[in-house]
Amino acid sequence: MIILRTIDEVSRYVAEQRQRGASIGLVPTMGALHAGHISLVEKCVSENDVTIVSVFVNPTQFNNPADLASYPRKEDDDFRLLSAAGASAVFAPGVEEIYPGGIDAQPEHHFELGMAAEVMEGKYRPGHFQGVAQIVSKLFRMVTPDRAYFGEKDFQQIAVIRNMIKSEGIKVDIVACPIKRADDGLALSSRNALLTPEQREVAPEIHAALRNSVEYSKTHSVRATHDSVVERINAVPHMEVEYFEIVDARTLAAIDEWEESPWVVGCITVYCGKVRLIDNIAYRLP
Ligand code: PAJ
Repeated sequence: MIILRTIDEVSRYVAEQRQRGASIGLVPTMGALHAGHISLVEKCVSENDVTIVSVFVNPTQFNNPADLASYPRKEDDDFRLLSAAGASAVFAPGVEEIYPGGIDAQPEHHFELGMAAEVMEGKYRPGHFQGVAQIVSKLFRMVTPDRAYFGEKDFQQIAVIRNMIKSEGIKVDIVACPIKRADDGLALSSRNALLTPEQREVAPEIHAALRNSVEYSKTHSVRATHDSVVERINAVPHMEVEYFEIVDARTLAAIDEWEESPWVVGCITVYCGKVRLIDNIAYRLP
């Protein structure tokens, strides 16, 4: 596995691979890698001649400076995991390489991300998706991947990135990959490392509440299902639901009746102490 630090190095590497006719897959990450990230890398390796993984904690998508400062970083471990998973190259640039002159020196560009970016994370993390679109569009233009891999844990992010490539005219296949969970059901996340032992013990209640609500939803209204999840999680010590929305998975618009869409997903954000955890569950599949 080779380590690329600059845009020039990436361009040269990509040009070499293209010259020999290789297909290129990209897995964008912010590092602190776990088995969820690695499942994306393994899928990418199995579907492309070359797998490039980016590791970059993108400051422009953090609306909360404390969250950015506390974001876990462990480059040596990340590189070991990526190499073992069969990645061809890792792109791990510094902030200055991506945002020359600093974040504030960047030209203003507003991404058209549609309704999908206004709700849920878009509402609670102002500017977050503009930052995600900024970095992902840069990575797509640098790497020019045939396919790019994203996890359904960040369900909304995938919808927003699909809108971004449409509005920016970027051609790439977006591959959505299933959520990887710990044995107790907690969705794997780099932020789980920030939980205290007590918080880690109760955190699986998020998935447990969501999973149980799928059965409940078969005999109850959208509103009752919503409320049952929120009440159950809020009753757990350390935990507080920030939002739980039951939405049409295609538009991310909230629904009032199950019949409104053939594909319905419940997206949740929970504060477990100071740690913000997200998860989701499918109620109806297409
Ligand atoms: P990050 O949180 O590091 O996640 C990188 C990718 O791994 C995302 O596509 C995310 O959905 C996926 N992922 C994380 N946990 C997962 C799990 N438990 N199961 C399956 N997939 C999982 O998402 C980002 O970084 C950033 O916003 C990024 C797209 C890299 C732009 O900076």
